[in-house]
Amino acid sequence: MPQIGWYGLGSMGLAMARNLQRHVASKKALNMIYSNRTMSRGDALKSLGGIPEPDFAKVVDQSNVIFTMVSNDKVHTSLLNSVLSKSPSLKDKIFVDCSTIHPNTVDASVARLAKKDAHFLSAPVFGGKPIAEDGKLVFALGGSEKAAEVVRPLIQDVMGRKVIDCGSEARRAALLKIAGNIVTVNMMEAVGESQVFAEKTGLGTGPMEELITEAFGAVAGGYSKRLTSGAYAPPLESRPGFGVSLAIKDADHAFAMAKEQNVELPGLQVARDNMAAAREYGGECLDSSSMYGILRQKAGMEFWNEKSRKGN
Ligand SMILES: NC(=O)c1ccc[n+]([C@@H]2O[C@H](COP(=O)([O-])OP(=O)(O)OC[C@H]3O[C@@H](n4cnc5c(N)ncnc54)[C@H](OP(=O)(O)O)[C@@H]3O)[C@@H](O)[C@H]2O)c1
Repeated sequence: MPQIGWYGLGSMGLAMARNLQRHVASKKALNMIYSNRTMSRGDALKSLGGIPEPDFAKVVDQSNVIFTMVSNDKVHTSLLNSVLSKSPSLKDKIFVDCSTIHPNTVDASVARLAKKDAHFLSAPVFGGKPIAEDGKLVFALGGSEKAAEVVRPLIQDVMGRKVIDCGSEARRAALLKIAGNIVTVNMMEAVGESQVFAEKTGLGTGPMEELITEAFGAVAGGYSKRLTSGAYAPPLESRPGFGVSLAIKDADHAFAMAKEQNVELPGLQVARDNMAAAREYGGECLDSSSMYGILRQKAGMEFWNEKSRKGN
């Protein structure tokens, strides 16, 4: 098994890295070397055998396969810049980015690493933190088949339940992720609208949640639970499951690509406007499902519900 490096221990990254480290340990292979901006986030990984290394360039230097899971394109690109300016040789190294980034950013990373004889795979994920913790994410995987062959066994039944093969063009995996998030964000908006309707008409959120889960599946049911449990507006200083700014970034990537192709995304626009209004009202510490707070306000209720945090 290759030496694995990891950067990014946010809501998703930490859960994924823990599963990968458990797998590596079960195979008695080399422990993962990990890094993160906030190194203390890795304590749980260290207790499983992971090796901390604050300098990402050093992680890369010592690893054959390097996973990254960070917020956005800007962080992704600055990580790559730091490696390209420091690491002497990247020959045959495989970079696997699981973040949600624009396909053009993927193209740029593929090209920059190819100049150093290194590979870049795009491997964005579907599913939230609880699914990441269970190792049941759905991955899209795109890029060099030779590199994908090395990486697939580190994903399938380790961090994910399913790998959707997007072929040798890495950007197609990023494209699938952006397209998938059109569904995710629209579904959050639909669940939020139905729950506000249920509450205001006296039906109640309980039966509505049961129906959503039974008739529309566990994913939709999970979105409903984010509302009824108050997780759409978690306590300040905590980390939201899927931060509202991350979902806005994903929607904006979709709009940019849709515009180029004359595609309209009116449902996504409604959800994006409500997420932006939620962020304006409640700040950054909100889940992407927090459009619910705005839908509540529009229906004459408080932004916060009985289980969420109250105010800022
Ligand atoms: N959450 C979800 O449900 C979900 C599902 C599918 C895909 N995604 C995508 O997966 C990616 C990660 O999501 P997440 O929820 O894990 O995000 P997150 O909890 O906000 O974590 C972001 C990660 O990026 C790091 N980071 C942020 N700004 C940085 C900077 N300026 N310099 C260096 N590192 C920086 C953070 O470091 P610190 O720990 O130091 O803050 C952390 O490791 C995003 O692209 C997101 O769109 C998320």
